[in-house]
Amino acid sequence: MTKNPLIGRHALVTGAGNGLGRAESLALAGLGAHIVVQDIRGEFADESARKIVDAGGSAETLVCDVADLNTVMAAIAGFEAAGRGLDILINNAGMGGGQGLEDVTREHFDQMFAVNVRAPFFLAQAVVPGMKRRTWGRIVNISSVVAVKGWPDNSHYVGTKAAVIGFSRAWALELAPHGITANSVCPTMTATEMATNSMTAAELDAFAQTNPTKRLAIPDDIANVVAFLCSPASGFITGQTISPSGGSFVGAM
Ligand SMILES: NC(=O)c1ccc[n+]([C@@H]2O[C@H](COP(=O)([O-])OP(=O)(O)OC[C@H]3O[C@@H](n4cnc5c(N)ncnc54)[C@H](O)[C@@H]3O)[C@@H](O)[C@H]2O)c1
Repeated sequence: MTKNPLIGRHALVTGAGNGLGRAESLALAGLGAHIVVQDIRGEFADESARKIVDAGGSAETLVCDVADLNTVMAAIAGFEAAGRGLDILINNAGMGGGQGLEDVTREHFDQMFAVNVRAPFFLAQAVVPGMKRRTWGRIVNISSVVAVKGWPDNSHYVGTKAAVIGFSRAWALELAPHGITANSVCPTMTATEMATNSMTAAELDAFAQTNPTKRLAIPDDIANVVAFLCSPASGFITGQTISPSGGSFVGAM
C-alpha cells in the first residue's frame, strides 16, 4: 500500500468526538485524509481534531446533532462548493438502547431512528453526487454484531443496525458503476463510553471472557478495518458486512 494513499481525500466521520469515531478519524488521517470531525459535543470534537493535528494530520470540526439534517447537509454543500467535496463518509454516530420492547416510547424510537438510520441515509444522499462527479467514493456504515445476533431489551437499536446493513448492500449495487463502495462494519462490545454506559465493569469483564480472545474490542480494532475499507486497496470490496469481533461471531453476516 502507498504510504499515504488518502492524501487529497476529504472524509466526514460522524460522532467523531469520542470512542470509535475518534479512532476511525485518527486512522483515516494517518492515511492522509483531511477529516471533518462531526460531533454533537463541541469539546469532544475539538479534542479529536487536536489529536489528529498533533499526530501530523489535518482536521476541522462540525458541531451539531447529526439528526439535524438541514445543518449537516448545508455543511456538505458548503464543502462541495468550496472545492473540498467529501470523498469518504463514515456513518458512525449512534445512540444506544437498553429498553425492552414494552418500554420503548414512540419518542425514543423516533429519535433513535433519526440518529441511527435517517441521518446515515440522507448524509449518503448528500455526498453521493460529488463522489459520482469524482468517480470515487467510500461509504462505511457502522452497524453492530447485534444486527445479526440479536440482543434482548434492545430491539429498536438492533433494528437500526440491521437497517444500515441493508443500506450498504443496496448502495453497493447502485453506486458500483460510479467507483463508489459501500460496506458495513459490525463491532462487538468495544471499550467506549457507549459500552460503559450500558454495562457495569464487572459485566464488561464477564462479557470479555465470552470472547475467544478473552478481551473486549478496542476502538483501533474497528478503526483499522474502516481505514482499510476506505483505502484504494479495497476498491473491489463492496456491499460487505465485516465484523472485527475476535471470533465472537463466526459465520455469514
Ligand atoms: N461501543 C460498542 O460496543 C459498539 C458496538 C457495536 C456498535 N457500536 C456502534 O459504534 C458507533 C460508535 O459508538 P461508540 O461506542 O464509539 O459510542 P460513544 O458513545 O463512545 O461515542 C459516540 C460519539 O457520538 C457522538 N454522538 C452521539 N449522538 C450524536 C448525534 N446525535 N450527533 C452527533 N454526534 C453524536 C457522541 O457525542 C460521541 O462523541 C455507534 O453507531 C454504535 O452504535 C458500538
